[in-house]
Amino acid sequence: MKGIKVKVPATSANLGAGFDTLGLALDLYNEFIVEESDKLEIQTNPKMPEFENPDKNLFVKVLKATCEYLGNEFHGVKVKQNINIPVSRGLGSSATAIVGAIAAGFAANKKELTDEDFFNIAYKFEPHPDNLLPALKGNLITACINEGKTYYNKIDFPEEIKAVVVIPDFELSTEEARKVLPKQIPLKDGIFNVQRVSLFISALCSKKYDLLKVAMDDRFHEPYRKKLIPGFDEVIKAGLNNGALGASLSGAGSTIIALSLENFDNIGRAMIEVFEKQGIKAQYKVLSVDKEGTKVEIIE
Ligand code: HSE
Repeated sequence: MKGIKVKVPATSANLGAGFDTLGLALDLYNEFIVEESDKLEIQTNPKMPEFENPDKNLFVKVLKATCEYLGNEFHGVKVKQNINIPVSRGLGSSATAIVGAIAAGFAANKKELTDEDFFNIAYKFEPHPDNLLPALKGNLITACINEGKTYYNKIDFPEEIKAVVVIPDFELSTEEARKVLPKQIPLKDGIFNVQRVSLFISALCSKKYDLLKVAMDDRFHEPYRKKLIPGFDEVIKAGLNNGALGASLSGAGSTIIALSLENFDNIGRAMIEVFEKQGIKAQYKVLSVDKEGTKVEIIE
């Protein structure tokens, strides 16, 4: 074996009311190519000096942890990272590094990766299944943790719906975006979200897409996080006014995701315009759901 290539999809967590519960895999990918080497070498494309520092490189940290977990000593490796997913924008870039490193570590050691192994390692780095699981398994995932064990289900997301992800030109770390959340939620807000997340899943399953607009509203995190995202309400409105089925913050932000059957470019342009009025540059991407999750290829 000359090396291992791992391709991991971007993810959009929460999807409105499904805070820490729902996540969708999208067809935008980070790639990690790992080759044997006596020393540790990291290359990033495009060049990102902070990620070429081994102490700051999440992929390398998780790869080391995976080797230790498997009872093997970590020798050097040559890692090449092709980074296509914008960093710290709520599109699961950290999850790609965690999932990619665990998958690469198990493949290199010719070990089958069980869910138990996966969570034992992954949760040390990121305790939320709503990015990790769709990155690993693909499609739409609903997950919960019960007495320390993770239970999840993969739901086939309708192919006709695409995601317009609007990515503003500023980073937002999940840590910062969780600090602004309250410790307690009023019962009426709990009811509000349970109603909507149930409606969201059932609307997709029965293709009643007109329900998605209401179903993607949220009271757990968006009311608090939107203070960190200038123009948030207006950006969402611009998406809906241009034909989106529903829209919400993607993960912890700063990206906003709109789901739609049509008008993708109009939706993206309209949402960007609102950000620009706030003096914030933004770009949009029209993405389809990824159904397969992480792919591992052995390079002979
Ligand atoms: N559910 C998480 C959050 C996703 O919104 O904070 C980011 O890991």
